[in-house]
Amino acid sequence: MSYYGSLGSDSDAGGETVRIRVCDAEEVEVGRYRCFSEGKLSFLLCNVKGVVHAIINECTHMKVPLDGGRQFGKDFICPVHGARFDIASGKALAGAAVARLKTFPATIEGGVVVVELPTAAIGRTD
Ligand code: FES
Repeated sequence: MSYYGSLGSDSDAGGETVRIRVCDAEEVEVGRYRCFSEGKLSFLLCNVKGVVHAIINECTHMKVPLDGGRQFGKDFICPVHGARFDIASGKALAGAAVARLKTFPATIEGGVVVVELPTAAIGRTD
């Protein structure tokens, strides 16, 4: 697995963020997800029909990791009580969770997945 690191920070759009080069796009296969972390923040990259999305690795029901759950098409299923979330929007669709998952902007740049993460959430101060 590749890990490329930071591309710098930005203070636009409601809070400072940092752009992170995460991995080669081909490392997140269509219909699959992978778990990554940056500082204190754990997140999942989910490939939905060739589009990579980033969601927080924490169910909004009981704050448990979503890693170990199942990606089912455009939805993600929590491994604990089975809440279903829309990956692209984070919206809770069914089950025990009602609050939306945090999502983070993700793009593919030159074959590399880049995510924009809030610096406060990852615990960075630079
Ligand atoms: S902890 Fe995820 S649905 Fe309950």
